[in-house]
Amino acid sequence: MSTKIKPRYTRMAQLKTADDLRRYLQESDIDLNFDENLDDPSPYSGAITLNSGKVIGNRFCILPMEGWDGTEDGRPGPFTKRRWEHFAISGAKLLWGCEAVAVSHEGRANPNQLYIHEHNLDEFKALFRLVMDKHHERFGRTDDLLVGLQLTHSGRFCKPNDKKRFESKILYDHPVLNRKFGLDSSYPLMTDEEIDKLTEQFISAAVMARDAGFHFVDIKHCHGYLGHEFLSAVSRDGRYGGSFENRTRFLRNIVDGIRREAPELEIGIRLSAFDWLPFKKGPDGTGEPESFEGGLYRNAFGGGQEGTGIRMEETRAFLALARSLDIQLICITAGSPYYNPHLMRPALFPPSDGYQPPEDPLKGVKRLIDAAAELKQAFPDMVIVGSGYSYLQEWLPNVGQYVLKHQMADAVGLGRMVLSYPTLPEDVLNGRPLERKLICRTFSDCTTAPRNGLISGCFPLDPVYKQLSEAETLKQIKETL
Ligand SMILES: Cc1cc2nc3c(=O)[nH]c(=O)nc-3n(C[C@H](O)[C@H](O)[C@H](O)COP(=O)(O)O)c2cc1C
Ligand code: SF4
Repeated sequence: MSTKIKPRYTRMAQLKTADDLRRYLQESDIDLNFDENLDDPSPYSGAITLNSGKVIGNRFCILPMEGWDGTEDGRPGPFTKRRWEHFAISGAKLLWGCEAVAVSHEGRANPNQLYIHEHNLDEFKALFRLVMDKHHERFGRTDDLLVGLQLTHSGRFCKPNDKKRFESKILYDHPVLNRKFGLDSSYPLMTDEEIDKLTEQFISAAVMARDAGFHFVDIKHCHGYLGHEFLSAVSRDGRYGGSFENRTRFLRNIVDGIRREAPELEIGIRLSAFDWLPFKKGPDGTGEPESFEGGLYRNAFGGGQEGTGIRMEETRAFLALARSLDIQLICITAGSPYYNPHLMRPALFPPSDGYQPPEDPLKGVKRLIDAAAELKQAFPDMVIVGSGYSYLQEWLPNVGQYVLKHQMADAVGLGRMVLSYPTLPEDVLNGRPLERKLICRTFSDCTTAPRNGLISGCFPLDPVYKQLSEAETLKQIKETL
């Protein structure tokens, strides 16, 4: 799957003028709107005031991105600090996360995932300080910067001790994922008592995040990890499965605990607003849905029972619940990087464990924008952050501006683009043209690397990663694909 393979879809860089893009979208039957010119003053520069009175100074959000580069006891390493520093000086005023941080050792997605606990709390205090100091140095103020910590348990995708070995914690016997990831139907489910204990660990982690200085915590409910798995646990018995009320008990209990023990902490949720059947490589390498015996697929939260549709009734119920819990910050994403990555991270070149895109990646971008817009319309008082814009490349600022001006989201979230081009938000806010050589071309090396036991980073474009020995290893791995 090397980048030498001719991509099946037109590269964004070839769509040089607004007419080119318009024509291409029309021919491809993709109803994606954009502004031809960027406005001055920029709609990206408008502030958001939360119900709590806290202010987010502009409409760019940095999405959480981990680097598989922490220490074995969960502390940030030098590459972690460099990445967070880049987030701090990006110009964005909302830092969502800034990466997944486990609340327990067994809940880590890899042995180098950050893990917050009482013995390394000082390191998280220093990390928060680093972000605030670097932002202040560059922009002269931090009173309008909102910085969160994304709290997670990786559930089915835990690999706490060995980069190559899943030690899954699952909530139910999933009809497709169990088979796909080699778990048989006798694999033990987490008990209600284990979930109760984990709830306490989330609450303690949130209190520690508050003590470290973070303004909010994200109770992660996306990407197939544990929080997300609760939402589809329709076949689970007991207090945490079956009815919508039971499937959201985990969230409600964590929020209750945080409100009790850290009432000043803002809470957010990153949510996979819709999900589909897991995908696999088809005969020619293109992604196709896994086969599914048994009629209707009931395990796609926000998805249709045919497995590849969108039905967001429960997603709306979830947001209504979040609102009733005084949660205003919602970040919209979809699916899972482990089983249907084209939904959440549209890319021209798949990572090593992925598949050739089954659709023009612009369709994936459009699907994410539409889902966020539908939810924004239903919940105008909530702060809705969108994801999946990096594929737009040169056209990212123009599509994002249209979205903001039409109240289709409150903030434009940036993932991969800031790994290659950390100061894109600042350039857009200041009306400067983009630096083309820094634009993420969705080569997926930042995912292929960790899938093969390496740290993550933008190996093709970031000068520091380019000259690491890992860049050569990665090249060799890609040659063999
Ligand atoms: C290297 C890498 C690490 C990521 N880590 C996280 C993470 O820790 N938490 C999370 O919610 N999403 C994570 N994501 C997903 C991104 O936040 C984002 O949703 C995705 O990349 C799509 O946005 P984009 O098109 O701007 O890249 C990660 C993505 C990448 C490429
Ligand atoms: S490795 Fe760099 S260019 Fe490739 S997807 Fe990641 S950020 Fe983009």
